[in-house]
Amino acid sequence: MTDQPLRYLLDPYGDWAKDEGIPITEDVAVDLHAVEVGPWARWDARGGFVHLRGRGDFVALQVVDLPPGGKTAPQRHLYDEVFYVLSGHGSAIIETVDGRKASFEWGPRSLFSPPLNAPFQLFNGSGVDSARIVSANDLPLMMNMLHAPHFIFDNAWSFLDRAGKQSYYAGEGDFLPLKPGKHMWETNFVPDLGTFALPDWEARGTGSKNIKFILADSVMHAHTSEMAVGTYKKGHRHGAGAHVFAVSGTGYTLMWYDGDKEFTRHEWRHGFVFAPADGMFHQHFNTSGDPARYLALSFGSHRYPVLQRKRDRKQNPEASVKDGGLQIDYEDQDPSIHAIWLRELGKTGVPSRMGHIFDETRMKNEMS
Ligand SMILES: [Fe+2]
Repeated sequence: MTDQPLRYLLDPYGDWAKDEGIPITEDVAVDLHAVEVGPWARWDARGGFVHLRGRGDFVALQVVDLPPGGKTAPQRHLYDEVFYVLSGHGSAIIETVDGRKASFEWGPRSLFSPPLNAPFQLFNGSGVDSARIVSANDLPLMMNMLHAPHFIFDNAWSFLDRAGKQSYYAGEGDFLPLKPGKHMWETNFVPDLGTFALPDWEARGTGSKNIKFILADSVMHAHTSEMAVGTYKKGHRHGAGAHVFAVSGTGYTLMWYDGDKEFTRHEWRHGFVFAPADGMFHQHFNTSGDPARYLALSFGSHRYPVLQRKRDRKQNPEASVKDGGLQIDYEDQDPSIHAIWLRELGKTGVPSRMGHIFDETRMKNEMS
C-alpha cells in the first residue's frame, strides 16, 4: 500500500488545459467571435479553449487573439494543427527545412497548417485591429497518449519530409483528381476559403461542391463544401469529432438521432462552429442569397485516415442508409425537413432551386 492517491481514470489533456490558466468554453455550438479569452503565457497572447460536446477523443480547438501590432511567442509542437482565420490580417513565418523560412500573409477565412513540429510565429499586420484565429489540433490525442508536455512542446526533432513544396506556403497547391467528393488539394496555405474554386459533388446535394484538403501531409482532415443558393445538403451521420465552421452565407443545421421526434437546430454564419455528436444525423441548409460554404476539420485525413472506420467511410460516403450507409437521400428524408426549409426561404425571399426533386406546390398548399 502507498500513501499516494490512486492514479486512475486520468485525463492528461484535460489537466494540461486547466493548468494553462485560460478560459475553457464547453458547448454544443459556439460563436468563436464571442468566445472568452484570457492572457496565455505560452502564446504571449490571449487565448481560450473550445471543447465542443461532439468533439470526440482526438481533436480540440484553441482560440488565439493577437492585439494590434502584436505577435505570438515562437511555437513548435508535436501535434498536427490547422488554423482558420476568423478576423484580422497578419502574417506567418514557418521554418521548413534546414533553417529555411517561409512566410505568407493571411486574412479572414484563410486556412493554413504548419508541418508537425515546425517552428512558427504569427504576426498581426494591423496597428489598429486585433486578429482572432482558431486552431483545430490533435493535441488531446497526443497528450493523452504520451502525457509528457515537455516531449510535445520542447522537442527538437525535424520531420524533414513534412515541409512540402515552398509554393505550398504561397497559396499555391496541387490538385489531386480522384472523383467528385474525393478530389484533393494539397497545400499548406489557402488564402481565402470563400473564393477557393471548388469542384462539383452533386451526389451530396443538388448544386453541391466540395474539396478535401491535404495540409502539411498531416493526419488532420479538412474539407470545404458549398451549397448553391436555394439548396441544401443531404443529411448524414458519422462518428464524433467533425468540427464544422461556417465560412460564408447564412443558414441553419438540423441535428437528430434516429427515431427522434424533433430536431435540434443551430443557426450559423462565419465564426460559428459546432460538432455533431457520435452517430447524430445532421443536415445543413442555405437560406441566404449567396452560396454558403463551411469548413470541416477532424482527425483522420484523406491521405492518413488512421482509423479503420474512417478509411471505410471515406471509401463510399454517398452510400444510402437504406443500404447500410450514412447518407439520407432526398426521397427518404422526413417530409417536414423540406417544409421547414421552404418556410425559412419564405422569410429571406430566396427562391428554391429544388422544385425538380420535391412537389413544392403541394407542400406550400398544405402549409397555407
Ligand atoms: Fe458530417
